[in-house]
Amino acid sequence: MSTHNRSKYVPPQKDNAPSTVKDPLAAVPAYLSEHYTVIDKIGEGTYGVVYMAKTKDQHPRMLAIKTFKPGKEGDGISPTAIREIMLLRELKHDNIVHLDAVHLHRPEPSLSLAFDYAEHDLYEMLRFHRERGMGPVLETYTLKSLMWQLLDGLQYLHANWVMHRDLKPSNILVVGEGEEQGRVKIGDFGLARIYVCPLRPLSDNGVVVTIWYRAPELLLGARHYTPAADVWAAGCILAEMLALRPLFQGNERKTPASAFQADQCDKIFRVLGLPSAASWPTLEHLPHWRDNTENVRAHKPEFPAKSRLAEVIAEYSALAAGGGVNPSDQRGGALSDLLSRMLAYDPDHRISAADALQHPYFQEDPRPGRNAFIHNGRLLVQYPRRSKHGPAGASMPPGAPLNTFDAPQARLGLSRNATPSAVLAPDRKLTPVNAAVATHTTPQGLPPGSASRPRPSLKRPHQDRWLR
Ligand SMILES: Nc1ncnc2c1ncn2[C@@H]1O[C@H](COP(=O)(O)OP(=O)(O)O)[C@@H](O)[C@H]1O
Ligand SMILES: [Mg+2]
Repeated sequence: MSTHNRSKYVPPQKDNAPSTVKDPLAAVPAYLSEHYTVIDKIGEGTYGVVYMAKTKDQHPRMLAIKTFKPGKEGDGISPTAIREIMLLRELKHDNIVHLDAVHLHRPEPSLSLAFDYAEHDLYEMLRFHRERGMGPVLETYTLKSLMWQLLDGLQYLHANWVMHRDLKPSNILVVGEGEEQGRVKIGDFGLARIYVCPLRPLSDNGVVVTIWYRAPELLLGARHYTPAADVWAAGCILAEMLALRPLFQGNERKTPASAFQADQCDKIFRVLGLPSAASWPTLEHLPHWRDNTENVRAHKPEFPAKSRLAEVIAEYSALAAGGGVNPSDQRGGALSDLLSRMLAYDPDHRISAADALQHPYFQEDPRPGRNAFIHNGRLLVQYPRRSKHGPAGASMPPGAPLNTFDAPQARLGLSRNATPSAVLAPDRKLTPVNAAVATHTTPQGLPPGSASRPRPSLKRPHQDRWLR
């Protein structure tokens, strides 16, 4: 028996301490009140604060307003913000977050970006399943639809020479209500960049991608990496949706900035086995592979001779589902094939987002749909809305254990629907990169019931990232 099904999942640490700031809205830039009623703080990252707000016009709409701290150089505008604006003004796709307005306030100077509001993000959705032990796993249809849409947004980005570089559950937004209900919106383009003919190796940009989702070529010091790194991150996310825990949860070395992340590599090798020049011909040229002989190249007894991915996923999924899933049910299936292609070591042989969309997994029932929450007219799960007082309806007391793998048995990776799905796969039309940035909010009806309640603003340590 492997050690994996015995290892207890240690959930990401969250800063649950009550905020010392009395009024979370005290720092809202005053100029925003001209346009919006700010309702609550919904996120805080390295680069600024995100607020939930309502437009002050005839047809109020909910928006997420991302404010940026001034740039380090003292020029007032952070490079992250500029990158986000530059890219998002051009990108237009159903699965990419929509930038509604840009507000530049010259006197300070200060910059805020207003995005269409998405009620959920994948981090919170997975946390909901973990905490409640309900369901207990994501519905096959929901999981497949979320993945399909994520890949569709990704293939659009890559077709337009954009790499996201920071894909992780908290940056994958999902619309809760209205016409776009159940629609994935890839968000947080703060680290994204165009990769056509880079003048400098892209690695000069600093280390990117939160460590658990970081591709092996980045971990091993590749200087020219490719959109395949986004596909790796998406593969890690697919595994996390199945297992309700990060697949490769390495401990990070914080300093120096370019530190070799031995533990993260170790975590990967324990599941996929040690990479070899046979399966990854350019491996020998990667600096950390060459230089860290003891840490990396040496074969440890814990590294399996060949990939244990399907087995590990099945074991984790069984734990998430309360036990009872036979690992052999998961092996050799379309899902495990797709996952292993997304997590191929060699970036040149890793499946592309466009090819992943054509994978047989998405042809099998249940077919993926545009609304990940509603299948055959039925709302599969009511995910909690953002709330000041914790997840609505289904909250756990603060500090309740996250590791509640005690729910009834459920089988993963298998359709729960006896009849073929009538839901059509979404269109995959590529939208030309030509949309202009909105500089003013556009009035639009607020979908019924979308005056959402705010949720707690907890900084997520695993959201921390490294750049400049
Ligand atoms: N359009 C949006 N709708 C709802 N919530 C959002 C939206 N954009 C961001 N958020 C929330 O704010 C958090 C931080 O936003 P993000 O753009 O990822 O900034 P950063 O990680 O750089 O701080 C997200 O994880 C999400 O929970
Ligand atoms: Mg983010």
